[in-house]
Amino acid sequence: MEKMKAIICTKYGPPEVLQIREVEKPVPKDDEVLIKIYATSVTASDCIIRGFKLPVKMWIPARLALGLIKPRKSILGLVLSGEVEKAGENVKQFKKGDKVFAHTLFQFGAYAEYICIPETSAITLMPFNTSFEEAAAIPYGGTLALYYLKKANIQKGQKVLIYGASGAIGTSAIQLARHFDAEVTGVCSTANMELVWSLGADTVIDYTKEDFTNTGKQYDILFDAVGKKKSSHLLYKKALNPNGKFISVDDDSPGKQAVCKANLIILKELTEKGILKPVVDRIYPLDQTKEAHRYVDKGHKKGNVILTI
Ligand SMILES: NC(=O)c1ccc[n+]([C@@H]2O[C@H](COP(=O)([O-])OP(=O)(O)OC[C@H]3O[C@@H](n4cnc5c(N)ncnc54)[C@H](OP(=O)(O)O)[C@@H]3O)[C@@H](O)[C@H]2O)c1
Repeated sequence: MEKMKAIICTKYGPPEVLQIREVEKPVPKDDEVLIKIYATSVTASDCIIRGFKLPVKMWIPARLALGLIKPRKSILGLVLSGEVEKAGENVKQFKKGDKVFAHTLFQFGAYAEYICIPETSAITLMPFNTSFEEAAAIPYGGTLALYYLKKANIQKGQKVLIYGASGAIGTSAIQLARHFDAEVTGVCSTANMELVWSLGADTVIDYTKEDFTNTGKQYDILFDAVGKKKSSHLLYKKALNPNGKFISVDDDSPGKQAVCKANLIILKELTEKGILKPVVDRIYPLDQTKEAHRYVDKGHKKGNVILTI
């Protein structure tokens, strides 16, 4: 049996619970591709699961779903970029050597040297104009931002405010909202204002200096990309047009409607046209995954934190 290196989440807890181990290298089924992973991303979701940082009311259902004392999927990591090493017998869309990027949805497993993914899942060829590190920065924030903006039925000319404009979801949302020809306002802290301007926001508000609900301006869509109940429809009502929509990353867990091949292809094409630019904050090697988690735990990364493998 061949072996590979992976980061194992040994139990719920601080970043120290993450340990590098030798595990069995996976073997692709007939409908799967075996990918040699070059880059993955440390996402807010990985950190939430590792630290079991969930509201009390979700503790029991979440432990049943995720694992009682440790994550059942012990290798975290939702997104990846890499190269197809082997294609299963029935695989038609990919061949050995293809450069791909993917989102594993609830399967995780990307903090590793190899992963097997069904060809029909959220996997496609990488944009031709990105590095592996940049490609791994696209799927997480990109699929969620696309899903929530479409759910809000974003239209040309609408005034859209993105709260949490500098994170993985926010940086994608700013660029996608601009692509949909909306008038975009981004809200973030002082240190991230320049980044949010550079992504095409028409207006940037520093939440440490100004409360956007007190500017007198009203929006057609308020997208809360911060979550953790830091905002609510009631709190923001006066900044919303009478028919305006409030939408939050806390609203639902989007699943396959967001994380699918079709959305990944849209993101790939927008990236190739230069409309969507992946935002990479820091890059860590796999053996520094704990450090990467410590940084992401702070909740102020700029876009994405990447692990290289
Ligand atoms: N529902 C779902 O299924 C689902 C799926 C994925 C993610 N999420 C949630 O989506 C949220 C965002 O994910 P992400 O990957 O974009 O996170 P991230 O990259 O860590 O970004 C966090 C954002 O929040 C802002 N922020 C932090 N503290 C703030 C505060 N006190 N007031 C205002 N803004 C603040 C940050 O801006 P500054 O650094 O400028 O402060 C940054 O823009 C996470 O809470 C995650 O749990 C939900």
